[in-house]
Amino acid sequence: MKEKIDAIQAEALARIAAADDARTLEEARVGILGKKGTLTEVSAGMRDVPKEQKAEIGQLLNASRSAITAALETKQSALQDAADAQALAGIDATLPARPVHHGSLHPLTLIRHQALEVLRRMGFALADGPEIEDEFHCFDALNTPADHPARNEKDTFYFDSGKLLRTHTSSVQIRTMENQAPPIRIIAPGSAYRRDEIDATHLSVFNQLEGLYVDRDVSLGDLKGTLEYFFREMFGSETEVRFRPHFFPFTEPSFEIDVKLHAKGQAPKWIEVAGCGMVDPAVFESIDAGRKDDAFSPEKVTGFAFGMGLDRLAMIRWGIKDIRLLIENDVRFLRQFA
Ligand code: DAH
Repeated sequence: MKEKIDAIQAEALARIAAADDARTLEEARVGILGKKGTLTEVSAGMRDVPKEQKAEIGQLLNASRSAITAALETKQSALQDAADAQALAGIDATLPARPVHHGSLHPLTLIRHQALEVLRRMGFALADGPEIEDEFHCFDALNTPADHPARNEKDTFYFDSGKLLRTHTSSVQIRTMENQAPPIRIIAPGSAYRRDEIDATHLSVFNQLEGLYVDRDVSLGDLKGTLEYFFREMFGSETEVRFRPHFFPFTEPSFEIDVKLHAKGQAPKWIEVAGCGMVDPAVFESIDAGRKDDAFSPEKVTGFAFGMGLDRLAMIRWGIKDIRLLIENDVRFLRQFA
């Protein structure tokens, strides 16, 4: 038995030493340690070993199994090292790494995300409305008379059906009030369309962000506090915000909002960023007439609204001089936001 074990071990080690790839080595392992392997078979002979020799032979078998297992492991890692070395042979590890280009969000997406995040924190919820609108929601319900210049064919894209591409997101105010009762606190980002001559500050498709807040006792103070906070969050806590009286058909009083910018190396200057005002009671009355109730009775509720150009905010934030850069998708421009 002893000689048999010695012989099997010697043969096994020789077979392992001769294996020169992973498959041959695996075949050797199965041939020695597998169910029908040589060592497994000789181990079965333990049954016939006289009692007084059992301990000695058992130890011998164990020692043999450990030696073979160790040889298998050593050989396996040697083969792996050789394979790795071969795979690396054709590679020059001293070459500089290739640069990795990360994608990035578009500046308009970045500014919209930030604006929505600030307004959501103040309790505004997202609202939406169609881009193909009717004259009622885009103009009439917003107290804009039929002869208002914004309704002109020269300024607005009309379809033959009489529908139009919304000229502002203010139509979402109307759509929301038709379907919800106060308190309402919504924001609606989206595209708006105008037949403008395209230049460095005008596109015929641009992006707005509308806001509407209607409840009992909403005041001009609420409007100012909300929008001052908003623009300071957007442009920095030192930002000065000015409300300049203006006219919009659907708010009374109405204002344009300017922020004072301190661009590096330039004299600080005021720049217009939004329109806003207290919702005109005529708008509420028209909504109630359509709803056939008094949910928006000016006796009960007041509200404020605001609208701003997201393209404009992005241009201010990053000092972008030409609005067309925002739609050209030139990677040399976009990469700067990565
Ligand atoms: N809709 C206006 C525009 O496109 C912006 C605006 C002004 C929106 C005043 C408002 C507002 O909600 O109250 O020029």
